[in-house]
Amino acid sequence: MDNILDEDRAILKKYNQEHLLNGYEKLDEKHKKELLNQIANIDFELISTLYNNTKKENLQNNDEIQPMEYLDKYKLNEKYKYYEEIGKKTIKSGKLAVVTMAGGQGTRLGHDGPKGTFDLGLNSHKSLFELLSDALKEEEKKYNITIPWFIMTSRENNNKTMEFFEKNRYFGYKKDVNIFFFIQGELPMIDTEGKILIGEDGLIKQAADGHGGIYESLVKSEMTDKMKQLGVEWVFIAGVDNCLVKMVDPVLIGTAIDRNVTVACKSIVKANPHEKVGVFCKRNGKPSVIEYSEISNEMAEAVDENGELLYGESHILCNLFNLEAVERMGRTPLPYHSAFKKTKYIDKNGDLVVPDSPNAYKFEAFLFDAFSEFDDMAILRVKREEEFAPVKNSDDVGVDCPKTARELYEKFHHIK
Ligand code: UTP
Repeated sequence: MDNILDEDRAILKKYNQEHLLNGYEKLDEKHKKELLNQIANIDFELISTLYNNTKKENLQNNDEIQPMEYLDKYKLNEKYKYYEEIGKKTIKSGKLAVVTMAGGQGTRLGHDGPKGTFDLGLNSHKSLFELLSDALKEEEKKYNITIPWFIMTSRENNNKTMEFFEKNRYFGYKKDVNIFFFIQGELPMIDTEGKILIGEDGLIKQAADGHGGIYESLVKSEMTDKMKQLGVEWVFIAGVDNCLVKMVDPVLIGTAIDRNVTVACKSIVKANPHEKVGVFCKRNGKPSVIEYSEISNEMAEAVDENGELLYGESHILCNLFNLEAVERMGRTPLPYHSAFKKTKYIDKNGDLVVPDSPNAYKFEAFLFDAFSEFDDMAILRVKREEEFAPVKNSDDVGVDCPKTARELYEKFHHIK
């Protein structure tokens, strides 16, 4: 142990993070071990680069942005049936798996517990997890097969998620047979001086590494191997908080196969040119998503000869990947974006600090940053009222909140 401690001290000194061992002697044996394990697993070089990047992120870049081609699901004409048939065959032969990303903190919603356990306020009082499981079972019945369901949690919400599923008997699924859980990666949080924070438990304060962590964690947790064993070839990946998400869509699968692409995503047209959503585009010739904060008013309002917005296809986190594409992305590092957050920590004197404004950086990868690794992908425009009812904010915000999601869900399912 002493040797390890000496080695750690040397590494920490090099990276100016010696404070991490300040409280070490006061920890019990279990926590001591855990702290050393955390230190051994941190890529300090990366953290130092990420800290330096926090000072650069707002710089203008010179990327060349162009509109991206898309297909409208409801204007496919005779191709619709054709794509649908290809997709149906793929689904029936057991080649599709569904992944739900449920590792987020759900800060904006403010629900006490994993977002998937949130009761939307329907008469049935079903949670988001149960609504997704209902939708999946419905599809399974249609195709007379089981579609393996993979759920990504975070270290922070994994126990509560598992308890919830156990309590609900996995909604009829069988753990490790047709429902699988895996925990996403994490990165340390740092203060404005680049110092890694220690939490109340005396351990390094880490936070989930964003939905872009999906690829690496699918591979590291060997879920991609599991998929292979099950004969899966296509993986549909979406968030836990869209209660109308259509996880099994033969037209999307058929589109990807027919167009010979390894990624296909759904889009919905922006509600208005200035809606605060990311839209698909080509960036330096590669598929990408441009954030609303990056796009000029002129670009946001530009239309084509049919009066359609040139940058109007919103990314709604509904993504289909070929399994090989997921594996490749699991080995390809994505950029990290920083978010400035309010978080409690233990200062160098061992005192708890409870800030009343943001004080620390959290680092997240974005799922869509992977798109530029592909030469081409398919975008399929679907209908907002059929496939998009997100639960992001609390009801007082008035948009993308439980009330709006509930209304959309009830309307689509003809409830009431
Ligand atoms: P959001 O980016 O909307 O984040 O995630 P969130 O955690 O739900 O909410 P806020 O921003 O804290 O209010 C979109 C989807 O990606 C998942 C979320 O669970 C949600 O389904 N996600 C996000 C992860 O699985 N892991 C992450 O690290 C981040």
